[in-house]
Amino acid sequence: MNAYELAKPVLFRLPAETAHTLGHDALRAVQGTPVEGLLRSWYDVDDPRLHVSAFGQTFHNPVGVAAGFDKNAEIPSVLSSLGFGFVEVGGVTANPQEGNPRPRMFRLQGDEAIINRMGLNNEGADAVGRRLAGVTADVPVGVNLAKSEDVPLEEAAEDYLYTYERVADGGDFFVVNISCPNSEGFRDLQNREPMEDILGTLADAGAAPLLVKLSPDLPDPAIEDALELVEEYDLDGVVATNTTTERPASVRDARRVETGGLSGRPLESRATEMVRFVAERTDVPVVGVGGVSTADDAYRKIRAGASVVQLYTGLIYRGPSIAREINRGLLERLDRDGFDRLEDAVGADL
Ligand SMILES: Cc1cc2nc3c(=O)[nH]c(=O)nc-3n(C[C@H](O)[C@H](O)[C@H](O)COP(=O)(O)O)c2cc1C
Repeated sequence: MNAYELAKPVLFRLPAETAHTLGHDALRAVQGTPVEGLLRSWYDVDDPRLHVSAFGQTFHNPVGVAAGFDKNAEIPSVLSSLGFGFVEVGGVTANPQEGNPRPRMFRLQGDEAIINRMGLNNEGADAVGRRLAGVTADVPVGVNLAKSEDVPLEEAAEDYLYTYERVADGGDFFVVNISCPNSEGFRDLQNREPMEDILGTLADAGAAPLLVKLSPDLPDPAIEDALELVEEYDLDGVVATNTTTERPASVRDARRVETGGLSGRPLESRATEMVRFVAERTDVPVVGVGGVSTADDAYRKIRAGASVVQLYTGLIYRGPSIAREINRGLLERLDRDGFDRLEDAVGADL
């Protein structure tokens, strides 16, 4: 049993957000100290077969931290020392936001899932932009861009642009989040007109590499519409997927009735299906996210067309060794299936 398995019963007795804040604070406390090097030597899997090039970035392994874990870009460096190949910070909005009242994050332990309705709490683009300018992580750092709660949908494009301009110098890639289920009307941004406006404005401003993050609850024709815009505005990638407002029948925990976006194990198959759907219809790289907690989960998404994967909920349930476990497991699977490099397995099932 590893140290995290020992700590889990204590951590899991705390409210989910309190436990998250504790974990985040602990990581922040060791960032920039010699402990970071120690963590890297434990957790980082350094093998050229895992290297991936996608949307202008070089990833030394394909396992990243998904948006929402480090909303204010405080710990990208120490997250990379846990062996992650990249980190997406944010969601960042133009205005600072408190988010929804607590409790707003719930563990569904038996389901290895989380429901959250955080509501895009973050310190705002000015503060996060300043912090990002001082970030030294040796992995690509993406920034998740979101719309401020108090800005009407018609003014969304300007709002995203404001945020982009504040974080542009500090980020290596940018993800337009139009799929957060926890802000009133937010997912309507995935309708053609607002999406065109937002992507067009950011593309005109030279935002690149630029990706768009979609909801797993979009019907197929809406995904196809979104992919048309990805092509029209020459975007660099698609992130599939955000959390779901669906409650698959497999979810047993009584907390399934909480309002919010569901993530983790019950999202895995839908997210993988969406990775495949997108990868079959576009040439841009796909970032696969949703329910990745083991090497098999990551490998399924990669074979379904994901160039790299991300996770959030898996880190809560499996702890800080998760990137190492997945990366080692991926190397075993490459050997087993006769792939020289991870990149050769991308889309192998298409
Ligand atoms: C507490 C929490 C906060 C999140 N915040 C954001 C966010 O700000 N922006 C975003 O695009 N996704 C956000 N997400 C979604 C994750 O980035 C990811 O898409 C989703 O959780 C599915 O991955 P997972 O099953 O590995 O958790 C959040 C998820 C959780 C659990």
